[in-house]
Amino acid sequence: MGREGATLADLDELLRQASELRTRGWSFRPIEDRWQRGRTSWEFSEIARADLPPSADLLDLGTGGGELLASVLAAIDPPPRRVYATEGYPPNLPVARARLSGAGVEVLPTRDDLRIPLPARSVDRVIDRHEAFDAAEVRRVLRPGGRFVTQQVGGANYVELSDWFGTEPAPARNRVDSAETLADEVERAGLPVVRTGEATYPERFLDVGALVFFLRMAPWEVPGFSVERFRPQLAALHAEVERTGSLTVTAHRLLVVAERPRLSRAGTARTAGRGRAGRRSSGS
Ligand SMILES: C[S@@+](CC[C@H](N)C(=O)[O-])C[C@H]1O[C@@H](n2cnc3c(N)ncnc32)[C@H](O)[C@@H]1O
Repeated sequence: MGREGATLADLDELLRQASELRTRGWSFRPIEDRWQRGRTSWEFSEIARADLPPSADLLDLGTGGGELLASVLAAIDPPPRRVYATEGYPPNLPVARARLSGAGVEVLPTRDDLRIPLPARSVDRVIDRHEAFDAAEVRRVLRPGGRFVTQQVGGANYVELSDWFGTEPAPARNRVDSAETLADEVERAGLPVVRTGEATYPERFLDVGALVFFLRMAPWEVPGFSVERFRPQLAALHAEVERTGSLTVTAHRLLVVAERPRLSRAGTARTAGRGRAGRRSSGS
């Protein structure tokens, strides 16, 4: 077999393996040594748990398989009083419950409407990594003085994918262009923002199979993706890996931390020192 034949045989094998890998929760463990992730200048898990008052009640929006929440909870001592998580993708519910039930977490199913199935003022902290949210709903469930910590995928995330596959990125809810836009949206709902961050950085897939696994996990990234439909593009990307060693994409991440104002003795919200002027920002 000539070199080109060998290369195509490699590609077939990579694609076959990637299609057979088991997806479970929000875990990328099957490709962890073939996907070089970048880092933000902030550490989301640390910010998620910072200054959490004793006996606080915590909510994680869009917990996936509960992987991130489990690691956040493992680092909080003493543990929060009550912990809730929401999840809108039904196959993830049993995965999250299995992972989190030992820690006493109640995993609540959600629908597409971004409603949070909890009463008003029921938690002291809402954390949300990469899940769409309705800021008015977040404010409603937060107690006065409570904090919202979110990291979102920015609008310029993985723009290379549309070049490679010739598809439009799906207009993900809440996918906004900048941390400033995200902060404005949160503030309009009555949650003054105390910190923002924005980061872009390269990430590398070391073979086409790793990219295929990623696209199976995040099907909104290339709408209508299948190995059969995009075989020519995957062959071109495989040739690119053979030439350069990897497929490089650009990640774009946004951070917003906001607080629901406490009530003053007169019963009005105290917002002094907050708002746009009070925001601390972190770069990439
Ligand atoms: C991007 S994951 C992030 C999970 C977790 N917050 C984290 O940071 O590790 C967020 C959401 O994507 C959605 N999701 C995950 N897999 C999906 C799939 N195959 N199809 C549709 N939505 C999915 C689920 O609602 C999940 O909660």
